[in-house]
Amino acid sequence: MKRIDLINWLSETDPNKVQDLYSRAYAMKVKHVGKIVYFRGIIELSNICAKNCFYCGIRKDNDHVERFQMTDEEVLESAKLAFDSGYGSIVLQSGERSDENFVAWIEQLIGQIKKMSNSQLGLTLSLGEQTRETYRRWFKAGAHRYLLRIETSNPELYQKLHPADHSHEKRLDCLKILRQEGFQVGTGVMIGLPHQTLSDLADDILFFKNFDVDMIGMGPYISHHDTPLVGLTDKTDKANNFDLSLKMIALTRLVLEDVNIASTTALQAIDPAGREKGLLAGANIIMPNITHTKYRRFYQLYDDKPCLDENALVCKSCLETRIKNIGEEIGYGKWGDSKHFKHSIQEK
Ligand code: 5AD
Ligand code: SF4
Ligand code: FES
Repeated sequence: MKRIDLINWLSETDPNKVQDLYSRAYAMKVKHVGKIVYFRGIIELSNICAKNCFYCGIRKDNDHVERFQMTDEEVLESAKLAFDSGYGSIVLQSGERSDENFVAWIEQLIGQIKKMSNSQLGLTLSLGEQTRETYRRWFKAGAHRYLLRIETSNPELYQKLHPADHSHEKRLDCLKILRQEGFQVGTGVMIGLPHQTLSDLADDILFFKNFDVDMIGMGPYISHHDTPLVGLTDKTDKANNFDLSLKMIALTRLVLEDVNIASTTALQAIDPAGREKGLLAGANIIMPNITHTKYRRFYQLYDDKPCLDENALVCKSCLETRIKNIGEEIGYGKWGDSKHFKHSIQEK
């Protein structure tokens, strides 16, 4: 699909045509990855962050957030729950820190999780920009996938949404290093950011294709009341960003075909059935929250985050019902690696 076709689809308003797009994307997903959803239980380890992204509710300068860091026991308990539930893998996410204490903490946590699960639980990290050495240490300790969103493929837009010392180039370099160090690499963007255009979004999809990523995680931008960007979007933007996000999922499926695409939690912050709708538009991964309930309200990157009062088991059965209702199955007990990653390894 050419850039202009992507832009035309993103601006399409005829509901029948949009539905047709979702159906085509769904057929493409079924062809490549089946009607199977893989679960990645996400543990939000800590909301301490050294960065100041203008859109994010846990940015360093937000003094209204109580900061936390989970204990090793709590992390292990959540990981074990995911393992015992048959989740293929888990994701460790937190605010960004690169000090040695943090790096060493993560390194030994990876080891403990691997040991607990007899190396059977897949381990994905979503811990931001780090040095090659750090990525190497974490890979060696046993993590094998890494999510690092590019946020937007447009460097000028990136600069508008971040303080001057946050660099788009560095983000890109990190993605390249992660690949070189052996990780399966996932990236993604926010959809409906202030100043973002439909051409930017079309370029995002082309970026995913050119970078040859294995996994995509993207979702609507939702403003957070304690950030510098608050007031730049309104209610109509929210509904709009939701529809645009589904179109982005569908188009990404049609262009990249066999990659893993997450139906992200932010979709459910706008529409209660948001994550199912993401699956029906071509996504095949869901990241159930397995963070201990007592920490959830301190980890709000955007307003209206769902499941704040629920626990991991409630979310599990809630998602099971939702997925069953749309006629899909959960791939319990499997890693569910990106088919794309396997294909590209065979080709090498
Ligand atoms: N709305 C939607 N997504 C957000 N993120 C951060 N803040 C917001 C927001 N206000 C996303 C970013 C980041 C990921 C961890 O969360 O894309 O990479
Ligand atoms: Fe920190 Fe990530 Fe939020 Fe940026 S998006 S402020 S790096 S947690
Ligand atoms: Fe958490 Fe429904 S997904 S309660």
